[in-house]
Amino acid sequence: MRRQGLVLHPIGRVCGNAIQIHKRWAKGLAGIEGFSHVIVFFWLHKAGKPRMRIHPRGLKELPRIGFLATRTPHRPNPVGMTVVKLRGRRGARLLVEGLDAWDGTPVLDVKPYTKKESVKKFKIPAWVRRLDSLESDPLRRYGS
Ligand SMILES: C[S@@+](CC[C@H](N)C(=O)[O-])C[C@H]1O[C@@H](n2cnc3c(N)ncnc32)[C@H](O)[C@@H]1O
Repeated sequence: MRRQGLVLHPIGRVCGNAIQIHKRWAKGLAGIEGFSHVIVFFWLHKAGKPRMRIHPRGLKELPRIGFLATRTPHRPNPVGMTVVKLRGRRGARLLVEGLDAWDGTPVLDVKPYTKKESVKKFKIPAWVRRLDSLESDPLRRYGS
């Protein structure tokens, strides 16, 4: 994976509801089972080209905003970051819940989630609340 002179080497891949860490790095997982959540960084390898301004999730009823103000996978460096629940570990396999990455997605890093990452008071624009309510509507289907 080479972008602008940077070389990234995945440490594993998404495999269903699990992350399979390469044998080479497996011993580095020792102790991770003590955490309830981990932060997963991954490479959205099937993402398309970024467009400067987009409707989040392609929804015309939401405002058109800069891609950097959204979580779209289509970005210059398609890095994904998700906090997931750690269900357990089977050797080099982490069983996780809530990972929004497709099967085969290269995993760049895994870090334990600690209270340093949690923000108690934060602000979001109104369109995010609107998107949350649209996405919880079971009658609607979305792309990415
Ligand atoms: C919107 S991105 C957000 C990822 C992460 N939660 C973040 O905020 O960085 C997640 C979406 O990207 C799409 N996706 C998942 N794996 C992908 C991959 N390997 N390449 C391209 N798109 C992917 C899926 O539609 C998924 O719902």
